[in-house]
Amino acid sequence: MNETLKTLLERRSVRSYKEEQVPEEILRQILEAGEYAPSGMGLQSAVMVVVRDKDTIEQMSRMNAAVMGGGGDPFYGAPTVVVVFGDSTRGTYVEDGSLVMGNLMNAAFSLGVDSCWINRAKEVFLTDEGKALMKQWGLGEEYIGIGNCILGYSDQPLPQAKERKEGYIIRA
Ligand SMILES: Cc1cc2nc3c(=O)[nH]c(=O)nc-3n(C[C@H](O)[C@H](O)[C@H](O)COP(=O)(O)O)c2cc1C
Repeated sequence: MNETLKTLLERRSVRSYKEEQVPEEILRQILEAGEYAPSGMGLQSAVMVVVRDKDTIEQMSRMNAAVMGGGGDPFYGAPTVVVVFGDSTRGTYVEDGSLVMGNLMNAAFSLGVDSCWINRAKEVFLTDEGKALMKQWGLGEEYIGIGNCILGYSDQPLPQAKERKEGYIIRA
């Protein structure tokens, strides 16, 4: 199996992280892979906001948990969070942002960095507190949260992938 396929098949979502930060050069390569995701009409409608400071990650974690009506840390202690937004004035912003998320997670894994898609970016950044953060980051309200890509190093062995479901592939 080639290295690309190995990455695609072996990447797993990680839900427990060491404190160790992802080095800047590795992060740069992960983000570059995000920038090269395909996008509708090549319009590159997504934006990635990189959050590495503990206070902001804690704030976003609290806001994310609040959407679910609970506590805990939905970001699982990951030291880096990349929030992917989509420009809703573009027809394919959800698809574009989702592909960026996929590129980030797979590129991360290929570089030995663990990740997980954390949901509820949309809801978090529709709140007043979320909108204030977006303003700070220079994003207008046309941007909608697509997903949070948490990045770091697992403090546990990687989980096994579930069996693939029957009927995943239909040959017409
Ligand atoms: C759209 C989307 C939303 C997700 N949201 C969460 C989430 O909020 N929290 C979480 O722990 N995992 C989340 N995940 C990760 C999935 O649970 C995970 O991809 C799935 O269980 C398959 O495991 P794998 O990624 O290791 O193959 C999300 C994944 C996707 C694609």
